[in-house]
Amino acid sequence: MSRIENLLGEMTLAEKIGQLTMAPSGQAATGPFRDEPTREALRRGEVGAILNSWGVEATRDLQSIALEETRLKIPLLFGVDVLHGHKTIFPIPLAEAGLFDPALWERTARAAAAEAAADGVALTFAPMLDTARDPRWGRMAEGFGEDPLVGARFAAAKTRGFQGGDLAAADAIAATAKHFCGGGAALAGREYAAVDVSERTLHEVYLPPFRAAVEAGCAAVMAAFNSVAGVPMTAHVPLLRDYLRGQLGFDGVIMSDYNAIAELIDHGVAADLVEAAALALRAGVDLDMVSGAYRAGLPQALARGLVEMRDIDAAARRVLRLKERLGLFDDPWRRFAAPAAETRELALDSARRAITLLTNDGVLPLRAGLRRIAVIGPLADARAEMVGPWTLAADPAQCSTILDGLRAALPSCEILHARGVEIRDEDVSGVGAARALCAGADLAVLCLGEAANMSGEAASRARVDLPGRQRELAESVLETGVPVVTLLFSGRPLIVPWLAERANALVATWFLGARAGEAIADVLTGRVEPTGRLAITWPRDRGQIPIFFAERPASRPAKASDPFTSKYIDIANEPQFAFGHGLSYARVELTNLRVASAEFRPGDRIRVEIDAKNLSDRPAQETIFLFARDLVAAAAAPVLELKDWVKCELAPQESATIAAELRAECLSGLDATLAPRLTPGEFALYAGLSADRARLLSARIRLIREDAAATV
Ligand code: BGC
Repeated sequence: MSRIENLLGEMTLAEKIGQLTMAPSGQAATGPFRDEPTREALRRGEVGAILNSWGVEATRDLQSIALEETRLKIPLLFGVDVLHGHKTIFPIPLAEAGLFDPALWERTARAAAAEAAADGVALTFAPMLDTARDPRWGRMAEGFGEDPLVGARFAAAKTRGFQGGDLAAADAIAATAKHFCGGGAALAGREYAAVDVSERTLHEVYLPPFRAAVEAGCAAVMAAFNSVAGVPMTAHVPLLRDYLRGQLGFDGVIMSDYNAIAELIDHGVAADLVEAAALALRAGVDLDMVSGAYRAGLPQALARGLVEMRDIDAAARRVLRLKERLGLFDDPWRRFAAPAAETRELALDSARRAITLLTNDGVLPLRAGLRRIAVIGPLADARAEMVGPWTLAADPAQCSTILDGLRAALPSCEILHARGVEIRDEDVSGVGAARALCAGADLAVLCLGEAANMSGEAASRARVDLPGRQRELAESVLETGVPVVTLLFSGRPLIVPWLAERANALVATWFLGARAGEAIADVLTGRVEPTGRLAITWPRDRGQIPIFFAERPASRPAKASDPFTSKYIDIANEPQFAFGHGLSYARVELTNLRVASAEFRPGDRIRVEIDAKNLSDRPAQETIFLFARDLVAAAAAPVLELKDWVKCELAPQESATIAAELRAECLSGLDATLAPRLTPGEFALYAGLSADRARLLSARIRLIREDAAATV
């Protein structure tokens, strides 16, 4: 018999439930306070995993109890949120997504895994794979943005990165695809709120990233807090048991989110912890994150016949198997010796490349010979804010600020600084002094935006604009007439149309992590080309939310000359900045999208070519997006669907032909039974530097029916 079956044969009910119990460590609070189970409970084998405990000392202390003082000596599993770096912080995922670079997505996860592993961590609650189309929802900062293809590639890259080639390796940690699923569609963008989306939308938009994570071998999945169409995900039999376990064949660990099993009572589907525990276990949730519902409720649920022993055994087996795959039984201390990764350089590289230049009238890159720059705003010298929302083990003192970065990059320029206002305060008494700093300055750099904790979990905002009195500060500086470069720090798009119009340049700097200041200075000075592209549509007005490029067609598409069409009477339909938008200092023009053959058949590879020309005297690095639309489909297809993207590099004034190949099957849609189907007929292909439909190149292709093809 295998080690695990032997163990299961020996375990008491309490010990089995112990393996299904993840207890809080008290080291970090990522939810409402929970009682820590006593060391006595640990000694009795009633705890199998620990939430958010890291560091050699802390983890060794607890692990020693499990290995030396429990009856069966089963090692503990330490899980930590490593969303964008462990100690060394990388750009937030929403910013990193804008690199459209799976190799880099993988490298940052690999480096973070090595750092976390050396700190005693064997499991991370990442990647976060919630498709997000509502900027009110603060958690969009933790994910890849609005598009499911980006999500699927991001999911696979992050899973490979965290887990490496061998889950038992010293520097590998188990990945958790979370939060399964639909959380990005929370009612009115409000955290933890109910979700009600169609099954079609689930399968088209919210599930593909999870499917990709499972296909990439992710070891765990976390059920979301939210309900979907009335059924809380923690108890969702059709999605957890039938789809995830059944259809996708996922046999790893499913865990609840923080306290979520107990919260089935708050959802209104369980009367007490016994019912809550039974619902979650029956849906396939193996691991109870900190609610204690399994410990408190499963014994009675079993006695009452609400669950069966074999359900408990199956869950315990999956947890034990994960521990085995991680090599914890063979050597629970192995990860302390994980080789160090080169994280600081990677943090700089990824931060530079994630910066997104939104507007620029030519003020950037900064001209040589500037004598004096006024750096103004609450985020110019805000070391602790640079890290962004998920940074349990980071030391903010290691982060560089904008002031640090500019002073180092421009040693012969006088860099003056005033905060003007605080991020969220009402006090405007500092505005005058900040404005005064502009007199005699060649340039003002406004550093505005959100605090790090205004995005991430429990950070929904009804007003996604500049908080506090920052607008007053900005307007006061803009009125002086000095050229103004504005840096916007945020975990989401911010609605600032007035700033987009009036600033000489607007730069999305997100939360870039440990090397933020140096990275920003490198891009402002032009040492590095801005290559970040938006992974999320940026609205011009709150009323447009939710806004995303892959909307379905309206029966009466918007037409300026016809009032009876799908549009607002008070603002434009178009966003402020489209998905994929991001300027460079170089300027690339695309022309002449062509397809090798106007007809294709299932199984074909569709070869696409585009002419690209660098019209500038700087080397260019571009991301070219390929979209498609099924023009006549069983269920109306979105007006644009992302099918691929290609990167190109062009020397000054260089022209090149850029080629890509699409698999015919990528043009499939879901039929009435939600099965993928390639429908014969016309498709439009589009190529462009963003999803701005007014600027896309297009071509038509036709799928030939197999039978029709045979008669030709
Ligand atoms: C969050 C999860 C996180 C967990 C543990 C929860 O509140 O929703 O994303 O992994 O806490 O920190």
